[in-house]
Amino acid sequence: MQQPDSVSRHLPQYPESLWRVSTELPSFPPLTEDIEVDAAIVGAGIAGITTAYLLSRQGCKVALLEAGSILNGTTGHTTAKISAQHGLLYDELLNHFGEEKTQMYHQANREAMAFIQKTVNDLNIDCDLKPESAYLYMETEDELQKLQKEFDAYIKLGIPGQWRDKLPIPLHVSGAIEMPDQAQFHPLHYLKPLVNEIIKAGGRIFEHTTITTLEKEGPFTLTTYRGKHKVRCSHVVSASHFPFYDGGGLYFTRLHAERSYVVAFQPEIAFAGGTYLSADEPKRSLRTASWNGQELVLAGGENHKTGQSLCTHNHYEELESFGAKLFGIRNIPFRWSAQDLVTLDKVPYIGQITSGDEGIYVATGFNKWGMTQGTLSGMILSDQILGKDNAYTPLYTPSRFKADPSVKTFVVQNADVAKHFVAGKVGLTHRSAEDLKPDEGAVITHDGKRAGGYKDAQGNLYLVDTTCTHLGCECEWNEAERTWDCPCHGSRFNYEGSVIEGPATEPLEKLDRDA
Ligand code: FES
Repeated sequence: MQQPDSVSRHLPQYPESLWRVSTELPSFPPLTEDIEVDAAIVGAGIAGITTAYLLSRQGCKVALLEAGSILNGTTGHTTAKISAQHGLLYDELLNHFGEEKTQMYHQANREAMAFIQKTVNDLNIDCDLKPESAYLYMETEDELQKLQKEFDAYIKLGIPGQWRDKLPIPLHVSGAIEMPDQAQFHPLHYLKPLVNEIIKAGGRIFEHTTITTLEKEGPFTLTTYRGKHKVRCSHVVSASHFPFYDGGGLYFTRLHAERSYVVAFQPEIAFAGGTYLSADEPKRSLRTASWNGQELVLAGGENHKTGQSLCTHNHYEELESFGAKLFGIRNIPFRWSAQDLVTLDKVPYIGQITSGDEGIYVATGFNKWGMTQGTLSGMILSDQILGKDNAYTPLYTPSRFKADPSVKTFVVQNADVAKHFVAGKVGLTHRSAEDLKPDEGAVITHDGKRAGGYKDAQGNLYLVDTTCTHLGCECEWNEAERTWDCPCHGSRFNYEGSVIEGPATEPLEKLDRDA
């Protein structure tokens, strides 16, 4: 097939997610009093909302507490594929966990998919839920063997799948695995009705409410930023992306943060259906979505560890070129990025936060597959809180520890963290605040020390200390999003230093412009 070769050079100036723009969400007040509930759920993304929805339906008194606005974290910026095909994974899980647990992983994700479908039917939700085949493909011959091994794992585990030599879209591949009966949807159109159900069932939702401490009294007391208000409860769920409470679980050594990017464009040729994910580099993901009666193609990928990319804008340009080469681009209404957390063994941590912390639960590390694994978190955690058995508890328990290969990854991840901690502290840049152009940010030297500077379009200068307030690593400038990103555990701050995403809860220190 002849390839369109036109490349639009009209990336939107500012990142905005299609899901966020096309959904009118309710807003909720911050917590302004002390309250008492059965379960306090921290974090209002898909995991927190599903947990609150399931618990409130069972008569449990819940409070959902969100540091920012609901559905404005990873859930608001996902590609929203609903799938049990999670890249090259099943062969690795087979080697690490064995057949029974790997089958369980597949089954768990299938159940989460079925839960979404049932909820859409039960609540009559209009969220563009559409069945699609998912394709995992390789473009190069070099590593095709890895894809073949993955397919062997499908056969061994009885996972439905077909080997393909060609894709329905105009992309030449060396091989692909088709997993039928997967799906895609509009994640916020799905979750908004669940939010309404929580409220109808008497649940309470608070936005702009950052929880900073958890004390084990009463049996639990959560305290908001700077100790203003308290939430007393019998159960606590940390669904805050990076856990807001560590409990001695050392989560900052067991998770790393990755950023990825999405460009949503109107193609010149029709998209043949299906969702796609590359198994080799560079990472690429494709699906469609509708917007204002048009079909858009969502091209995603360009993954990298947070804070470890020199030029974040290039990632959007690479995706734009990829989309243009395959389908041609008429226009690009949206571009956005997301942050995901990845665990040591690629299986999320869902369950009691540590073996000794009864009543405190966590859901994190969805390894980029938050639609199924966030849903699954709600299913598992609500069962655990309600005292029901859940077959997936042992697989997902955060207390699991496998010496191999986690130990190796553990060391590598820590070495990586240490490098950024130290590297950030040495060496000064030759650039100063005067060198910044309008709408530009960079690490600069200010008053003889390293500092972060951003000059807005009007020429106003914002200076911050780039030392992350979590554990002291040095933040790097993210020029595409105009944020300061920490490479160690993924905290993000806006150009004025306010926290966008934890684990940090304190803002970056503002520096005096006249110093
Ligand atoms: Fe942990 Fe920055 S997020 S040091």
